[in-house]
Amino acid sequence: MFPTEEFKKLQTPFYYYDTNLLRQTLQEIRENTDGYMHVHYAVKACANPKILSIIAQEGFGADCVSGGEIRAALQAGFPANKIVYAGVGKSDWEIELGLEAGIFAFNVESIPELEIINELALLKGKKARIALRINPNVGAHTHANITTGLAENKFGIDMQDMEHIISLASEMKGVEFIGLHFHIGSQILEMDDFAALARRINELQERLEASGIHAIENINVGGGLGIDYQEPDHNPIPDFHAYFETYRKNLRLRPGQQLHFELGRAIVGQCGTLIARVLYIKSNPIKNFCIVDAGMTDLIRPALYDAYHHIENLTAESSHDYVTYDVVGPICESSDVFIKNYGMPHTRRGDLIAFRSAGAYGEIMASGYNCRTLPQGYTTEDLKA
Ligand code: LLP
Repeated sequence: MFPTEEFKKLQTPFYYYDTNLLRQTLQEIRENTDGYMHVHYAVKACANPKILSIIAQEGFGADCVSGGEIRAALQAGFPANKIVYAGVGKSDWEIELGLEAGIFAFNVESIPELEIINELALLKGKKARIALRINPNVGAHTHANITTGLAENKFGIDMQDMEHIISLASEMKGVEFIGLHFHIGSQILEMDDFAALARRINELQERLEASGIHAIENINVGGGLGIDYQEPDHNPIPDFHAYFETYRKNLRLRPGQQLHFELGRAIVGQCGTLIARVLYIKSNPIKNFCIVDAGMTDLIRPALYDAYHHIENLTAESSHDYVTYDVVGPICESSDVFIKNYGMPHTRRGDLIAFRSAGAYGEIMASGYNCRTLPQGYTTEDLKA
């Protein structure tokens, strides 16, 4: 499955992106969406320029959370009118960049932010299209660090304030209110969580209509669809049918209303793998450590969220002879551990190790801690060239 012979020639650690799988994943999304459904790829999951340009070429929009991401998206070829921009702390220059580019919508997260967008737009003689990010107070069954839709989270505008802020926005000359935005969290595998969000949106729409607010053109339900980290080979493509069907069945859209999604992990998660080389095997009376040349600086998810990434030895001599290892990196931190007590075929110095399902929040979250070099990213096309 992996071009292991090519891998052997490359400097490790590096990310490998299977662009055939990426294209199949995008195709599956297309097959499960209708004309009124618009998928914006959440650039925060992976901003590797080659990955971005494939997603742009395939006609998807982009969901950005910073000026840097807006620039990366434009450079990769995403049209400005398919870019949405969220974030609780947008700087003035970032808002100006969005205004100049003419992005589809600013997802606004507070009244002070709305006022600044209005001011900056007026100074430029422009009108900013804005969607209000509403905190739906809907929980999601996922890791506490990646839930976003609860009242205790910093994101979005409280539902109580909704009518007030919509009426404020409608009086401002520099902004045009075009929709509502929601997002409940990430790595969500229970469709009931998305159904709960859809039902909450139905209630909100009824409430708004009762107070005379009609014709909301766009509903953006955010992202959050999870992937199978345990069995990436069995489930390389998430169940998009179930996901989009959940919204089709549970969300009552008004005639002409457009539905937007911001999927990150579900698009790129399974197509990326971190490849590392084994430096040393070290044993003491209670442990065998497999020390690899990738660390938490290359893939921080295990250290930060206790995340599981399936690990494979791509070059093991025997696939029978299992040994239990703690797979660890070289960083001077006790939390630089990928996994503890993990059964792998007998492993030697020089073996290539694959950390699977690392396409989302992998390369993009890499850091230079310990003055490390950032990992390279290669695609299927690069290795053929
Ligand atoms: N839209 C908004 C407003 C978001 O905050 C996020 C993710 C997404 C869309 C995309 O969510 P996705 O479809 O990828 O679940 N670093 C963490 C995940 C952080 C997610 C942040 N927000 C991880 O490695 O699990």
